[in-house]
Amino acid sequence: MSRKIGVLTGGGDCPGLNAVLRAIVKTAVGRYGWEIIGFRDGYRGLVLNDYLKLKRSNVSGILVRGGTILGSSNRDNPFHFKVEENGEVKYVDMSDQVINNIAELGIECMVIIGGDGTLASARDFAKKGMKVIGVPKTIDNDLYATDTTFGFMTAVNTATDAIDKLHTTAESHHRIMILEVMGRYAGWIALESGIAGGADVILIPEIPFQIKKVAQKINDRKNAGKSFSIIVVAEGAKPLGGEMVVKKTVADSPDPIRLGGIGNYVAEQLSCLTCLETRVTVLGHVQRGGSPSPFDRILATRYGVAAVELIREEKYGMMVSLQGDRITAVTIEEAVHKLKNVPVDGELVRVAKSIGIEFGD
Ligand code: F6P
Repeated sequence: MSRKIGVLTGGGDCPGLNAVLRAIVKTAVGRYGWEIIGFRDGYRGLVLNDYLKLKRSNVSGILVRGGTILGSSNRDNPFHFKVEENGEVKYVDMSDQVINNIAELGIECMVIIGGDGTLASARDFAKKGMKVIGVPKTIDNDLYATDTTFGFMTAVNTATDAIDKLHTTAESHHRIMILEVMGRYAGWIALESGIAGGADVILIPEIPFQIKKVAQKINDRKNAGKSFSIIVVAEGAKPLGGEMVVKKTVADSPDPIRLGGIGNYVAEQLSCLTCLETRVTVLGHVQRGGSPSPFDRILATRYGVAAVELIREEKYGMMVSLQGDRITAVTIEEAVHKLKNVPVDGELVRVAKSIGIEFGD
């Protein structure tokens, strides 16, 4: 039976989005003979009815490409959509319009690929009766109810590569080199790249730090003949009793806060407390770019195929999820009800502490 399915990629882009789209199209179009409609720029395309038919030729050669051929947006909330009328900006609930748009197109189910913000809207559409399947993506790895999101491992690879490169200047110039990485309110990228890159200090949002303890670690290293140190700091890290550093707010975004700047704060404090020269590198959107790692290509492909199979089984309102080595499904509701933070007494933190990595707690 021929079926018509819609798909969109929402939120911040990440490596592996194209790999999921490819898997969906190859399975749905190539294997089952369905039709796939891709909406451009996340929910914006759904609201504005901006779409294209995805054929096999559209997804040929995109497995290795970062970004998303559909475009994405982390600003457009269809339930609170920014419109301008007579020069005046207002926010309007466009969800009914979206439901009408897809009904008119004859789309029976939407596959929504995104992080917590995008999937929270997917859940709200499901409540309005839309048939929805979720696919979890984000470099932050902060989605609850899945072990890993695709994009995360590629970001960890990029951050680890940066730490390896910072080591040379740290050693040659006897400096403290600080790498600020993304991750929003979760410290996964900092923790995993810090362990993989041999960092001396890792600062994450889940463990508020005391700068004196960090300085002590660096001074101890100096006294032991190690005149350099590497610090990986998550953008959401904060001093004990202090706040996260907000770089800016983006009013129309589902999560308006943009973090950034904690690296400079740590650098200023440490240059006073250690008398060592200190430099900061903010890795930024480099972490979201580039070709997906083999792990992410495989995970994204598994998610794409599983999403199509969920449609065949008519298991709507579900999100594909990795649990252990198995792909399974959880309700979107469960997936977005809270963020997945680093467990402060979990195995990874304990491993890091065992080998002497300082968290400043
Ligand atoms: O959620 C992905 C992410 O890259 C976060 O790690 C980061 O805080 C945020 O998006 C940056 O958003 P923007 O692309 O709007 O600057």
